[in-house]
Amino acid sequence: MASSARVSPADLARAVATLRGGGLVAFPTETVYGLGADASNADAVKKVFAAKRRPHDHPLIVHLARAAQLADWAREIPSAAHTLAKHFWPGPLTLILKRAAHVSDLVTGGQDSVAIRVPAHPVAQALLNAFGGGVVGPSANRFGRVSATTAEHVRQEFGEDVDFVLDGGACDVGIESTIIDVSSGQPALLRPGIITANQIEAALGMPLATPNAASPRAPGTLAKHYAPRTPVMLVQADVIDELARSLARQGQRVAVLARSRHQPLIDKLTWIAAPQTPAAYAHDLYANLRTLDAAGCDVMLIEAPPLTPDWAAVNDRLARAAAGAGDDRGD
Ligand code: TXA
Ligand code: MG
Repeated sequence: MASSARVSPADLARAVATLRGGGLVAFPTETVYGLGADASNADAVKKVFAAKRRPHDHPLIVHLARAAQLADWAREIPSAAHTLAKHFWPGPLTLILKRAAHVSDLVTGGQDSVAIRVPAHPVAQALLNAFGGGVVGPSANRFGRVSATTAEHVRQEFGEDVDFVLDGGACDVGIESTIIDVSSGQPALLRPGIITANQIEAALGMPLATPNAASPRAPGTLAKHYAPRTPVMLVQADVIDELARSLARQGQRVAVLARSRHQPLIDKLTWIAAPQTPAAYAHDLYANLRTLDAAGCDVMLIEAPPLTPDWAAVNDRLARAAAGAGDDRGD
């Protein structure tokens, strides 16, 4: 299991030396793999944007070993931040805070806020502790594309553009961290994740605000994101078989990410029966999208999960995958 993954002392030393030398190190977290660089080295941070082909106004998350380092990167830390850090760190939660003066515009996208996360994965913890400083870590995928949840997927995305990949096995959670803005007034949910809005509200003892025009931008919440190359359609469960049949009759090669177990007998069908629970579904989601994409079909049908709060993070990623699929601009 990924959570028991360990890294060899030689690999850890090489990863730390690469970060200190301004290079790029992909590393596992419990959510997805990150494309790491020294957050205090502007040239190293620039390499992250270049490798991802990511626009410069899309800010990066700074990963830290411990919540105690928060004050090195943020200022005016509100009690809500301490409460959430105590409940959920280390773990799949990112907090948006007012940035400390030294934090570069490159990291924050020119905003006055900075995103901070303390990941729980033992390999991420080993790396961050050995390195000592902050490590920027966007998801290790080309901009707008499907995030990587294994070391192999990172290599497929970046090849030689990443200096070293720390292999920690498959990520436990499988989708990116929940993002909460605590930089201005009432905390707000900017990106849903495996830690649900309900859990955050229970920890805070107050409701979350709806993000508004004054909230920090989280450009990763673009409508188009996490997208396969194959055109994606989100389809209701009761019509997916019929739609697959009719597309196949028109000669189309169809890929299906289903939740039902009974595969219809259709020619040229690539079928994956996804797990039934939100956590298991999320764990496999990006690997399943990659597998279906690699089948080179004309269209990908995804059976829509229920619209209940426990599926919110998965539904968020599926909606963005459907909005951005087939568009090959690489954004
Ligand atoms: O689970 C995760 O969060 C993974 C792992 C590697 O930690 N990282 C990740 O990073 O998903 P990335 O760069 O793919 O997504 C970060 C999101 C983007 O939507 C970005 O716009 C938002 O965080 N973000 C970063 N800094 C921000 C800031 N100062 N204000 C608002 N949003 C910010
Ligand atoms: Mg990302």
